[in-house]
Amino acid sequence: MASLLSVQSLAVSYGPIEAVRGVDFDIQKGEIVAFLGANGAGKSSTLNALVGLVPVASGTVSFKGEDITDWAPENLAPAGLTLSPEGRRVFGALSVAENLRMGAFSIKDKVALEAAWERVYTLFPILHERRDQFAGTLSGGQQQMLAVGRALMSNPSLLLLDEPSLGLAPKIVGQIFDLIALLRDQGVTLALVEQNVSMALEIADRGYVLASGKIVASGPAAELARSEALKSAYLGGE
Ligand SMILES: Nc1ncnc2c1ncn2[C@@H]1O[C@H](COP(=O)(O)OP(=O)(O)O)[C@@H](O)[C@H]1O
Ligand SMILES: [Mg+2]
Repeated sequence: MASLLSVQSLAVSYGPIEAVRGVDFDIQKGEIVAFLGANGAGKSSTLNALVGLVPVASGTVSFKGEDITDWAPENLAPAGLTLSPEGRRVFGALSVAENLRMGAFSIKDKVALEAAWERVYTLFPILHERRDQFAGTLSGGQQQMLAVGRALMSNPSLLLLDEPSLGLAPKIVGQIFDLIALLRDQGVTLALVEQNVSMALEIADRGYVLASGKIVASGPAAELARSEALKSAYLGGE
């Protein structure tokens, strides 16, 4: 079966800093794939490059069989590829509903747009309750729900989640992981960057471990959980 996403020799640089140094990976439809590794390993740079938020220095990215390597972010959402970025990046001075509406910029069809609102407000009743409130007044957990909700408004077939549980209380972290499982059940394919390694490997099918911009281990989640490469990736890297 053809991969939903296929990445070959992807490299990302910031001036002289080589953040991602030639990574290969693929994601099949229906999977949850975890991307793990210490701070600075290149996880966010990888996801950001997939959606065109940072330039691809070299390598190729194909999505649904199409070469999307140099596509702009505004063309990727309509194609079905969306990122919920690290740090949430909600617009605090806009209302909850206005933030969500931005996620649906690519949906022109009225019925599809209604379905997107319905889906997100059903998943997150709190966002419906607070829809006219400034996003900046939400709690951290609610802002994370909003960031995921905004990404879901474009009805992605592949959703990239960068550190969705970062800085949240354990109870809220549990809710985020419940949500990830629910999205998988709804047919969304997920790439998940997480510092919460044990929870990520519990929910994921497969994973990749990054260190210093390279993939140092990969495999089924249960195997990765036992691997030495995973441990050493968190013990000071290389
Ligand atoms: N905008 C940027 N400008 C310069 N260097 C950056 C930028 N973003 C990330 N980096 C560097 O790229 C490397 C990888 O960072 P990042 O992709 O954020 O890693 P991770 O998400 O795994 O923590 C790090 O050395 C980081 O300092
Ligand atoms: Mg990061």
